[in-house]
Amino acid sequence: MKKNNIVLVGGGSTWTPGILKALTTHLTSFGLNRVTLYDTDGQRQEVIGEFGKILFQEEAPEVDFRYTTDKEVAYRDVDFVFCQMRTGGYPMREQDEKIPLSFGVLGQETCGPGGFAYGMRSIRDMVEMVKEVRRLSPEAWILNYTNPAAIVALALDSYFPDDQRILNICDQPVNLLRSYGRLIEADYTKFEPTYFGLNHFGWFTHIYDENGQDLAPQIKDTILNGGFRPVDAEQRDQSWLDTYAMVEDMLLDFPEYLPNTYLQYYLYPEYKVSHSNPDYTRANEVMAGREKNVFGECRDIVAKGTAKDSHVVHNDAHGDMIVEVAASIANNLRQTYIVIVPNNGIVANLPNDVMIEVAASLGINGPMPYAVGQIETFYKGLIEGQHAFEKLTVEAYREGSYTKALQALTLNRTVVDGKKARKVLDALIEANRAYWPELT
Ligand code: G6P
Ligand code: MN
Repeated sequence: MKKNNIVLVGGGSTWTPGILKALTTHLTSFGLNRVTLYDTDGQRQEVIGEFGKILFQEEAPEVDFRYTTDKEVAYRDVDFVFCQMRTGGYPMREQDEKIPLSFGVLGQETCGPGGFAYGMRSIRDMVEMVKEVRRLSPEAWILNYTNPAAIVALALDSYFPDDQRILNICDQPVNLLRSYGRLIEADYTKFEPTYFGLNHFGWFTHIYDENGQDLAPQIKDTILNGGFRPVDAEQRDQSWLDTYAMVEDMLLDFPEYLPNTYLQYYLYPEYKVSHSNPDYTRANEVMAGREKNVFGECRDIVAKGTAKDSHVVHNDAHGDMIVEVAASIANNLRQTYIVIVPNNGIVANLPNDVMIEVAASLGINGPMPYAVGQIETFYKGLIEGQHAFEKLTVEAYREGSYTKALQALTLNRTVVDGKKARKVLDALIEANRAYWPELT
């Protein structure tokens, strides 16, 4: 089996330890020669990097593990780039959430004006990353988890339309599959899902088991009769438990398909705003919780000199998925994953240029998506509106257009009112001066 060189962009992320752990537990399915962490914030990364050194020494000493802030070192001669950068860090996520809320508009990391703001920050660094990687490793696979994945995917497709080795993925579909498995006590790895939508904006239409039986009706009934919890409920903060619980509400109102949890923000924006604390948002919860724990535990591990019996890994699903996706490509396993690809007829009645999220077989030549066919008016209407928002966001960035930015926000279901959109936009511009192009 081939031994891969990989680089993790955003090495100082709270998700990195989980990915590193997954790399060490998947060595028989995804061979490794070298693992490099890369981050622009060297201090932050050092804590995780020192933990990684110990982990690899103990679990996979044959793998060359290192961390760097030098992109020449990071991007040269790599087979896979795992990208999870967060331009502006959690402090800017906090702004993305709090600024809209201060105007009574939804404040969320990837949805609504927060997603718009984060998207406008991510595009520049993502485009630069792809250019640098292509200069130093023209053949590398770039697996991207950077948010907001919907906007990032559309932007990369517009900057690099011919690049066949960029794949945007999100772990929420697989988190949901794992959660359905726990809910109905079935093995989720046997599920054959059908799914369509945009990132953080989609639906499972069927969940077939290995005998071809559709489990979706049973899953829906179970949720409607007893609620829904994430597979790793014991490790989750209350806000995530509330989010999963909202799936029951969505099924009551819209019983046809199993919705992605993120649809709650678009279907019930008023309810979500009225249940948000504008002074303490998810970013605060993450900084006080996961970030503190992960960095604290990494420091402890370094002080002790061993990572044995440590619990620095929050949620295996994320790391496992990333490594399994890479393995499916590297070893041509053709396993099914839900990924983000250009539509090109997959959903027959949506435009070709929509970046849709859909089930695909994943092999050495990349994703081979499964056809969806026609979708019904309700979903088509929702998706077209959201896609227009995403497209105008990318155009606002590329053209430096204030008008397009205002159009994007006004189109978003979480905003709607043009005057409100302008107020939110002006405040976001002010907060993002260091990151956004000038909008005129
Ligand atoms: C899910 C989504 C990711 C998102 C994450 C946020 O996994 O798919 O796109 O980044 O949740 O989680 P957090 O715990 O940071 O709010
Ligand atoms: Mn996601």
